[in-house]
Amino acid sequence: MCGIVGYLGSSQAAPVLLSSLRALEYRGYDSAGVAIIENGRLAVLKAAGKLANLESLLESKNPQATVGIGHTRWATHGVPNDQNAHPHMDCSGTLAIVHNGIIENYQALRQELMENGHTLSSDTDTEVVAHLIEDEFRTTGDLLAAIRGAVGRLKGAYALGVVSQQLPEKLYAVNHHYSLAVGLSDQASYLASDSVAVCQYTNRILRLEQSEIAEITASDVKLYSFDGQAVSRTPVMVDSNPFVIDKQGYKHFLLKEIHEQPLIMRQTLGKYLKHPEKPVDFSAANGSGHHCDDTSYGVSLTADDFKKIDRILIVACGTAYHAGLVGKYILEELCGIPVEVEIASEMRGRKLLVTGNTLTIAVSQSGETADTLAAITEAAARGSMTLGITNRPDSHLALVTPNLIVTECGIEVSVAATKTFVAQCACFYLLALHMADALKTVTPERSRDLKAKLLAVPALMEQILAREDTIRLKSLRHAEAHDMVFVGRGLNYPIALEGALKLKELSYIHASGYAAGELKHGPIAVLDHLVPVITVIVPGAVYEKTLSNAQEARARNAQMIAVAVDGDEQARKTFDTILSIPPVEEFFSPLLTVIPLQLLSYFIADYLGKDVDQPRNLAKSVTVE
Ligand code: F6R
Repeated sequence: MCGIVGYLGSSQAAPVLLSSLRALEYRGYDSAGVAIIENGRLAVLKAAGKLANLESLLESKNPQATVGIGHTRWATHGVPNDQNAHPHMDCSGTLAIVHNGIIENYQALRQELMENGHTLSSDTDTEVVAHLIEDEFRTTGDLLAAIRGAVGRLKGAYALGVVSQQLPEKLYAVNHHYSLAVGLSDQASYLASDSVAVCQYTNRILRLEQSEIAEITASDVKLYSFDGQAVSRTPVMVDSNPFVIDKQGYKHFLLKEIHEQPLIMRQTLGKYLKHPEKPVDFSAANGSGHHCDDTSYGVSLTADDFKKIDRILIVACGTAYHAGLVGKYILEELCGIPVEVEIASEMRGRKLLVTGNTLTIAVSQSGETADTLAAITEAAARGSMTLGITNRPDSHLALVTPNLIVTECGIEVSVAATKTFVAQCACFYLLALHMADALKTVTPERSRDLKAKLLAVPALMEQILAREDTIRLKSLRHAEAHDMVFVGRGLNYPIALEGALKLKELSYIHASGYAAGELKHGPIAVLDHLVPVITVIVPGAVYEKTLSNAQEARARNAQMIAVAVDGDEQARKTFDTILSIPPVEEFFSPLLTVIPLQLLSYFIADYLGKDVDQPRNLAKSVTVE
């Protein structure tokens, strides 16, 4: 959360900083700001709200500078206003910093600084860092040493960018358990929390590792550890095709990304599974060449490793957690190994019961979610085998696990995850088939049949998307609801959870997802004629029981909606509204049933005039715990 950028070169800094911030706006959009050196003096320009507000400010001020840092904020400490917007300055107004992360001991530091005569003007944890550097610099007169001295006093995980009018030919960056990349070209250096922002200018990238400080000039970068040792690392060349960030005629990125799902599925499945007769191939040779990617990745776990696994632990947050729940059903069904799925933040401060026979799988679109990273890192430290599923092979997640499966989604611009969810689920199908083939827990015939059915899913997705207009009309009947309940059983219980999450985050309507069988254990009390209940139901092992649960809701006069397959006569009699999908085997149904729910949430949110692509209070990359 929060995005840091920097520029040092011979061009105008403000447009570069702005364009870099635009690439990082997914990390937060509570405020944005820049600090530049103009005519030898530090100037800070910042504005609460979306980046567009900063853009207008920069247009009106038209600052002339060739060095600067910038920030886009997701508020943690202090409300999103101009004052709390980054950059933050020291007392002298000659040094400014931008910050991503949390300074855990900021209150004690703040108290101490104020007692020592510093005036702090924001409610943020960030500002103390500028003042600590100021104190150290006054003593040493050496900015690098001052930064080192200041970070030595900080607790927490953070990344920083620092600019000072005393040293206008340099920028400093600090990385402590976050991600920062420096881009180098012949004429300039660039800094960003995510290499996507840098890749638009150069493909020569140097990533900061943990507890490192970078001293950046327009032509060079020097790295130091926190204890002052010089660190040598060669920049890597990355594939830097500019990201296509274009709505391609769709009203919102979200709608475009929902529509991209058949293509994404073809890409992700096609990368690892060429044909139903072939094995799933996750080898390193198969995993490379991703956009802005300087890593080669793959799965090096062997059949012998798989045989040792007596338990799988999946850790993830939000939508990725729901994909993990789908993964549990698939892995247990095909591999016969018990699987637990944990919300990654719930793994903190708890005894992690993993062994060398556990496989811990972290699922994270961004690969930067702090809680997910902490959970998999801890599992690895306790001897567990680990594997990551991510859309970003250049992310932190790639650094903490030797086994990585990459979803081939391209950039997901909309803050709410859609296409990455189905791609994460697709990876679980592929992984389960891969493991089941190795463990021989499925027959070759069944494996072939399942692979063929999986490869046929994208065409079924297309059929659902072709029904978009009908789904829109049916969805809008419920746009005025204040609460919605989503239920499903088995593989479609996670889809009920995901449907409720999508509706909440996009439309701000309160929604809850339940296992359909749980309705009668309490949630049924909230039902009346005003509450739409959306049941996800497909023929299969839990069909009849789900139908019975729906009847319980019907008996309470709830508004009855279903996601059900074409030609389901019983569903037609039970539900008032059906968002229909083509017939599909229950085992693959989550890949389809989620789509009408994504569309329902989208259409309701758009109808209500919500900011569909950037819902309030959210950020796409959740790098704080
Ligand atoms: C919801 C959503 C979030 C993310 C969650 C984890 O639409 O996008 O719930 O799924 O913040 O993010 P990643 O997958 O980046 O770890």
